[in-house]
Amino acid sequence: MAALELIPSLSSEQNIDFVIVNGENSAAGIGITPDIVEAFLKHGNIHVLTLGNHAWGKREIYPTLDSEPRLLRPANYPPGAPGRGYGVFGSAAGPVAVISLQGRTFMEQVDDPFRAVDAILADISTKTKVIIVDFHAEATSEKQAFAWYVDGRVSAVIGTHTHVQTADERILPEGTAYLTDVGMTGPIDSIIGMRRDIVIPKFLSGLPARFEVADDEAQLCAVVLDIDPATGRARSIRRIQSPPYRAHL
Ligand SMILES: [Fe+2]
Repeated sequence: MAALELIPSLSSEQNIDFVIVNGENSAAGIGITPDIVEAFLKHGNIHVLTLGNHAWGKREIYPTLDSEPRLLRPANYPPGAPGRGYGVFGSAAGPVAVISLQGRTFMEQVDDPFRAVDAILADISTKTKVIIVDFHAEATSEKQAFAWYVDGRVSAVIGTHTHVQTADERILPEGTAYLTDVGMTGPIDSIIGMRRDIVIPKFLSGLPARFEVADDEAQLCAVVLDIDPATGRARSIRRIQSPPYRAHL
């Protein structure tokens, strides 16, 4: 898998203290399995895995969601869902909180992410000032609204889900770094990761089709954040798109 191969060298090159990966589509394009979680956490130099609306794509992950604190599904699923949606983790630079949340516009109707983040921040704000949110959402407007809502209360809001990296990285006035979507790590000559020869006929015919992940050269999309641990404010945000890469795993 390209991410597993590229992340360790990228993080040592860039001197990264803490790596978060959204892995919701790492199992052949939908969901994640216990083996993939283990591979990421043991061998990939990855500290926390976040998920999204495909968190539940592979049923065998449910027990791991309960047992592995470094695997986060969106925090705003209704009470009783397996697993957890946030945590505070150690790093060489001090404690880092990671929060996974899911938007509601054009998506499954989960609980309100805005009120959910208020409750989470009340719980973790005494533990660390360095707080990263993976906001997994479809609508740009909802992502922007969320980022402005938490400006100055979290270090970064990084969007995921749409697979295409946006070019709007910035630091909001109160110190929250923001990017509407970090983009995917996956096949470049594809339609958001899937085979063109399956997706295009679906658009032409309107008939159902079973999508498959394209088997082409991949690109890693990422964002590098520099955060002041004393204040939690972002100092810089920088997008990365790797050159085309042929995965070996
Ligand atoms: Fe998603």
